[in-house]
Amino acid sequence: MRLSIWPVLALLLLINSCKTTAPAAGKQTADPYLSQVDSVLALMTLDEKIGQMTIFTTDWESTGPTIREGYQNDIRNGSCGALFNSHTVAFTRKLQEIAVKESRLGIPLLFGYDVIHGYKTIFPIPLGESCSWDLAAIEQSAAIAAAESAAAGLHWTFAPMVDISREPRWGRVMEGAGEDPYLGSLIARARVHGFQGDNFNGTDRILACIKHFAGYGAPIAGRDYNTVDMSMRMFRDIYLPPYEAGIAAGARTIMTSFNELDGVPSTGNKWLLNDVLRKENGFTGFVVTDYTSINEMVNHGFAADDKHAGELAANAGVDMDMQGAVFQRYLKESIAAGIVSEKTVDEAVRRILRIKFELGLFKDPFKYCNEAREKAQVFSPAHLEAARDIARKSIVLLKNDNKTLPLTKGKSIALVGPLAADRENLIGAWSGAGEGDKCVSVYDALKERAAKDGFKLTHAKGCAIQGEDTSGFSEAVNIARDADIIVAVVGESKEMSGEASSRAFITLPGVQEQLIKELVATGKPVVVVLMNGRPLTFPWIAEHAAAIVETWWTGSRGGPAIGDVLYGDYNPSAKLTMTFPRDVGQVPIFYSYKNTGRPYDPNTKWNSRYQDIVNSPQYPFGFGLSYTTFTYDSLKVSGKQYSFKDTIVASVKITNTGSVKGEEIVQLYVRDLVGSVTRPVKELKGFEKVMLAPGESKNVIFKLTSKDLAFHTADMTFKAEPGAFWIMAGPDSERLQKREIRLVE
Ligand code: NOJ
Repeated sequence: MRLSIWPVLALLLLINSCKTTAPAAGKQTADPYLSQVDSVLALMTLDEKIGQMTIFTTDWESTGPTIREGYQNDIRNGSCGALFNSHTVAFTRKLQEIAVKESRLGIPLLFGYDVIHGYKTIFPIPLGESCSWDLAAIEQSAAIAAAESAAAGLHWTFAPMVDISREPRWGRVMEGAGEDPYLGSLIARARVHGFQGDNFNGTDRILACIKHFAGYGAPIAGRDYNTVDMSMRMFRDIYLPPYEAGIAAGARTIMTSFNELDGVPSTGNKWLLNDVLRKENGFTGFVVTDYTSINEMVNHGFAADDKHAGELAANAGVDMDMQGAVFQRYLKESIAAGIVSEKTVDEAVRRILRIKFELGLFKDPFKYCNEAREKAQVFSPAHLEAARDIARKSIVLLKNDNKTLPLTKGKSIALVGPLAADRENLIGAWSGAGEGDKCVSVYDALKERAAKDGFKLTHAKGCAIQGEDTSGFSEAVNIARDADIIVAVVGESKEMSGEASSRAFITLPGVQEQLIKELVATGKPVVVVLMNGRPLTFPWIAEHAAAIVETWWTGSRGGPAIGDVLYGDYNPSAKLTMTFPRDVGQVPIFYSYKNTGRPYDPNTKWNSRYQDIVNSPQYPFGFGLSYTTFTYDSLKVSGKQYSFKDTIVASVKITNTGSVKGEEIVQLYVRDLVGSVTRPVKELKGFEKVMLAPGESKNVIFKLTSKDLAFHTADMTFKAEPGAFWIMAGPDSERLQKREIRLVE
């Protein structure tokens, strides 16, 4: 029998309306929704409760096997409370109507989607965007993504991915913020706040989902979905902080990861979901699994069968089963057998319903369904302009010999390479609803400039991204010979990074490097423009190209943004957030390594080194050039000795010594020289991005407290230890000045 909740709800809302004012997202000291949630819960059958704990993909798109069809019936039966991969107002409205009008209680559906770096207006991939170190820009891109998604019927993004990674073989590094927990935590906060804003009172914010909890960025050998095995100290010091920052920023949902942690798959890890997530970090939102990751606990050898896996997940603290249908099929049985308590189910359903209330879906299930808003928001000119701006801010200048860049207006250009005229790959991996054909390519952008500025532009593809075919080389070399300068746009296809896209060789695929060699052989300066989703290795190019520009996948307005950088309309300011190795054999490679008992010495044998390659990377963390130059005066520290209550003030004067204005990311690192456990040789603890006109100086001031010097000590308490520290500042993680201070009790 159909008992629509709407008359009941209208009454409830009337009774409770005086009590209910929407709180800031994530802030729930007194719970204004509790009585409403409980009133709905009281009307629900056990099957309907389990339905709320179930999410399915629609058959529109899928990122894995769709193991369940006929989702419309699931909605009607109340056996599915959320859907993903359904978007646009027209489609979500149709599905919501089934839920509201045809299911017994009419509980509205939640629509989720992987809006990772934009809904339709695509921003740079998150790894690229992180290189801007521009938290306001990162927040803005998430806010625009939220506004477009919300206008297209969506309530929830499965983002941000906050997994720290030091593994460029792992394809999903493109989705994160790189290798550093300090920067990663700030970016996690910016992205969560960008998606969610302060509350869901309006119609332009969506739920964030921090993922993948936890440690997914450290798969052994860089192979996606592989085992993760790390010390608890490493987990707490390096991998956990960005999730904690996202939770503290109020993220309303979190996704379990596919991997195990110390032998226990995250989806069945009670310690992780109950103790760390809820008790230690006070997370009050709901936990969704990753795609079929309950079922996968059988393959892990942690559960005997799906039913057992469902019991482990429910008892560990999972609230919502993504795509596995395990809860739907077995949870009732497990409750009847007393293995899972109905109280556990009630708690999970409460958390889910509460968020539906927070979003305002019980007041208006069609709140996010407005065609006029969809039309106005999606691909709006302002959004596209922001995409261009944020793309420029994400582009890292890696090499610029003899001031090859910026390009001189009027000089003829030979534009070559498989990605030069490519639009489809610009949106990069995980671009969901993005439309590659609506991107503006580098060729499109340079053609426009050539028409306006009157220079000669020729174009030849040269070769494909992958494959051995070199038949296009001669055309490329011919146009190169006739030009003043060669711009070669090379890299990965968007399918080469992202989920299930690990690579053992992180070189330029196919014959692209060979093409560059032939172009360099012409004697003309070659500017290499890279498009890729991970750090690549290209030692020959690093040595022989005149200039190298790492653009990542720059999104809908990538071409114009790259044009702005190449012509100096934008002075590059980004810096790497992941170390670029010289060779894959150095991986994992990261700036905050430990000294070891036998620190690196290239001149002797018996130390921590390779026989066949130096230890240093091709490009270190924090590295990036500008069209201007900056000098650093000597680093000043306010004192020599500090108590635990003192503030350590470090300052350094930066001057723009070049002839154009530019932005510098000034970085501050610390080293704890002796600890109860060994400490990294440096750890980022602060940065500031300063814009300076030619000749202008600025004194950049950093303030640290003992909390910034804290870590998980020998007994695993998080605290600073007294002793000597280095305070270091500079333009990247290698070129640092240092001062020694002491922390005393
Ligand atoms: C699997 C991915 O690991 C996850 O990040 C994503 O959100 C889900 N599929 C849903 O598409």
